[in-house]
Amino acid sequence: MIGIYFSGTGNTKHCVDMLLSELESGAKSLSIEDETAVPAISESEEIVLGYPVYFSNIPKIVREFLDNYGKVFNGKKVFIICTMGLFSGDGAGCSARILKKYGAEIIGGLHLKMPDCIGDNKLLKKSEKENAEIISATEEKIRLTAKKIKNGKYPKNGLSFLHRLAGLFGQRLYFYNKPLNYCKTVSVDSKKCVSCGICGGLCPMKNISIEDNKVVFKDRCTACYRCFSHCPKQAITVMGKKFYTQYYFEEK
Ligand SMILES: Cc1cc2nc3c(=O)[nH]c(=O)nc-3n(C[C@H](O)[C@H](O)[C@H](O)COP(=O)(O)O)c2cc1C
Ligand code: SF4
Ligand code: SF4
Repeated sequence: MIGIYFSGTGNTKHCVDMLLSELESGAKSLSIEDETAVPAISESEEIVLGYPVYFSNIPKIVREFLDNYGKVFNGKKVFIICTMGLFSGDGAGCSARILKKYGAEIIGGLHLKMPDCIGDNKLLKKSEKENAEIISATEEKIRLTAKKIKNGKYPKNGLSFLHRLAGLFGQRLYFYNKPLNYCKTVSVDSKKCVSCGICGGLCPMKNISIEDNKVVFKDRCTACYRCFSHCPKQAITVMGKKFYTQYYFEEK
């Protein structure tokens, strides 16, 4: 068993790693950014696939990964983990439908609430205490899920037709194009930026470069909030216009 994940700000990585460690000691996980991820999938029978839900859908970077390498999932048993701030509907179903077309067997789905990584929207801002409570409740859910899986009972979160309707009418119809296209609104406040280059080194899409001491965004932003969350000067916004709070899951 291996874990394959995308995680902009650490939530999904933590959840995938925790479920793996509860299920099989020594099982390792790899980000889809890692060039060894595809060969690792082809060598494994069972895969835990994790990603954050964006607008009740799959992040653009994950969709591209499945479009490019979907064939490697042929014949694999896949358990899907989705993390989210509040609501997803059929977050797991969105990749399940794609993977089934490539011949994968979907053995279950798990939706996990984690702190919201969007820090440039005041409405989504939470205190550290609230975030800690969310994480603690989710960790308990992961422990319970692992026990059930060991008894052969796989949860099916997000995989039913009703979940699909909830995802579609809850969000996807209103934000249809957002997760299908690159984000065009990421920007930097040049008065705050000190051209340290941290954001460019971290971007999973290689979307940021420093040219003439200035941050330049290309046109391949997947809106993951990683640059936003790590900028030491809080100089970046992604979808919002104003900075409120940074969030990144740190392993203790
Ligand atoms: C562009 C974007 C869209 C999001 N859309 C949703 C959403 O539709 N529903 C939800 O509950 N959370 C949503 N979130 C919150 C993330 O799914 C959540 O914080 C997730 O745990 C982040 O995972 P990560 O740290 O692994 O990147 C969204 C986050 C981003 C960046
Ligand atoms: S991390 Fe922040 S301060 Fe550093 S180059 Fe990027 S935007 Fe500028
Ligand atoms: S520019 Fe920032 S938000 Fe966009 S993909 Fe890169 S790290 Fe993520």
